Amino acid sequence: SGPIRYRIVISDVIDPAARARLAREAELIDVDGQDVAALTAALRDADALIVRSETQVTREVLAAGPSLRVVARAGTGVDNIDVQGATEAGILVLNAPGANAVSAGEHTIALLLALTRQIPDANAAVHAGRWERKRFKPFDLQGKTIGIVGLGRVGSVVAQRLRAFETRLIGYDPYIARERFQQLGVEPVPYERLLAEADVVTFHVPATSETINMLDADAIARMKPGAIVLNCARGEVVDQEALAEALRTGRVAAAGVDVFPDEPAYTSPLFGLPNVILTPHIGGSSREALAAVGEMISTTTLAALRGEAVPNA
Ligand code: MLT
Repeated sequence: SGPIRYRIVISDVIDPAARARLAREAELIDVDGQDVAALTAALRDADALIVRSETQVTREVLAAGPSLRVVARAGTGVDNIDVQGATEAGILVLNAPGANAVSAGEHTIALLLALTRQIPDANAAVHAGRWERKRFKPFDLQGKTIGIVGLGRVGSVVAQRLRAFETRLIGYDPYIARERFQQLGVEPVPYERLLAEADVVTFHVPATSETINMLDADAIARMKPGAIVLNCARGEVVDQEALAEALRTGRVAAAGVDVFPDEPAYTSPLFGLPNVILTPHIGGSSREALAAVGEMISTTTLAALRGEAVPNA
């Protein structure tokens, strides 16, 4: 008899090396996570389900898999998984914390520099044969105050990289020790003060009851006029309507946004505004991050199915 063949449903794109590792011990069944009927049908005799952020793993989805033992999130945030429902059903939820933190941090800085240097507009103008040297008014980060909301893995990467730009770093995170702030060269401040003092406000928090709409019209009104907003965390953290309005009036000068409350996002009040750069939740998608996430998740999923101890479960 050969090795046990598990059945693993994969509903979002994952790294090829991770697939190859899984395929040594399991049959892989690919489904479109947006197609709930196909997903639930595939789960009927599945041992594990591997998702990224686009598949909503609700109680109904979990109930469709009577032999399901593992739901693995090929990424960090598990907000698309009903973790309590899974726990009640005896299903282990795995994720890959931190494996894409550098990627998300670098993406944040890429959006920031693209905004301060007006790269998208300048690039479009030159391509169109318009040599508008006087139109563009880029500015330096040196000496600016950057407000980092959330100093976990991604916020830390952002802080460490931004130090090289000789910025002043202030941060808000009630869950992080003072010593950690000190280590990162970030001055801890209350959220209100961060909003009032920062030239750039960047969010690196999960979506929780405390963080949803953390940047709403009220919070924006407390911001330094003409500041920049960055969100490479979760769409729900920023009230999109309020941000769009502030961008239209110039209260917020510019924004870089990688995440949306409803993904895939085919519509948003931010679409079409000239002073905002939008990307399709690719912050954590660098080749290196996908490889690291894939390695972590394929290893832990197989270990869990074999009944071995799983480090991050
Ligand atoms: C994560 O939670 O890891 C991110 O949303 C990135 C991703 O899933 O690609």
